[in-house]
Amino acid sequence: MNNPITLVDVSGKPAREQAFWPTVVLRRAQIEAEIERLASIDRPADGRRASSVNHPMNSGPIPAFAPGIDVQIVVLKPGEESTPVVRNSSGVEMCIRGSGVVTIGSKEFRIEKFDVWNTPSMRPQVVRNDGNDLLVRLSYSNAPLLERLEVHFVDNAPDLVASTGTVAAAADQHRARDAAKPIPIGAEGAQLLGYEWLVDIETVDSKALHWPWKEVSPHLQTVYNMELGYTGRHLYVLYNPATERRIGTSPSFFATIAKLPAGKVDRPHRHTSAAINYIMWGHGRSSVNGQKAEWEEGDLHFSAPGWSIHNHASREQGCTVLTVQDHPLHIANESLLWQETLKSPILKLGTDFGIQTNLSEIQE
Ligand SMILES: [Fe+2]
Repeated sequence: MNNPITLVDVSGKPAREQAFWPTVVLRRAQIEAEIERLASIDRPADGRRASSVNHPMNSGPIPAFAPGIDVQIVVLKPGEESTPVVRNSSGVEMCIRGSGVVTIGSKEFRIEKFDVWNTPSMRPQVVRNDGNDLLVRLSYSNAPLLERLEVHFVDNAPDLVASTGTVAAAADQHRARDAAKPIPIGAEGAQLLGYEWLVDIETVDSKALHWPWKEVSPHLQTVYNMELGYTGRHLYVLYNPATERRIGTSPSFFATIAKLPAGKVDRPHRHTSAAINYIMWGHGRSSVNGQKAEWEEGDLHFSAPGWSIHNHASREQGCTVLTVQDHPLHIANESLLWQETLKSPILKLGTDFGIQTNLSEIQE
């Protein structure tokens, strides 16, 4: 690297205007054609027949559908199995066709259409198609962010990886940090801490969790039956307790499944988290930054570029939608701004008192 360091004068410079990626819809027909193409190619060495959905505004370094989220369409033919891979990215997956078996670390579970699971980082994952149809899944991860930071760890020989990603039974073990006593500075909580606190942080048990569609879907009737006057969203978060107050499915993303009744129109709002919707059933329309989009079953919609004003509406039958949004990432960064209506204040969720819906009134 021969380029010299430069000093860039930013004195008095205005803040950079943000370049919102426009809303785009990858149509069901395109997804199905790509699935067939992936099924027709020679089996790759790692067993992963996969295409990454690339937004037209993405400038890399890897394909991505939102600036911090990649979505891959991953296909396994009957009898095929992917080879184990370990990555420090984490994510969420949904099976959209076929059935099979997922092994993550020591955990194994069967999956079928519309099952969702999270993939913790640094755990080898293997997916096996033991059915008669293609096994197709949508795989969402935070790899684009890690690639931008040039720290995406990917190991295709995970036997060599020492980390188990599991919480050690350390509760009653001696910890070096116990000897590094905190030193208060001032009266408001500032402290000095020794190095031991940096390298022995509190742990959470980060498990692969599984939300089978047959268990989730009956609950969606509850939100589907809620009246149109409900000011919240007709959805459930697929909550992973390892994400604690960040209310995620993976450390970076939440996945929600919404079931909107017919004729539901959300109020225009915005949030710094970016959202990608997969339409599982039904159809509807959106307005995003003034741009209109129509979508229907099987489409994949980049539905909310961060901080873009948007709203979504179901049509005459309602709709069921998987949304993946990088909301927990922003809570961890104290950057989750949220404006629930265009007349509402801009809240910083996680420190400001949050938004109150009319749930208790409509349940009376
Ligand atoms: Fe939204």
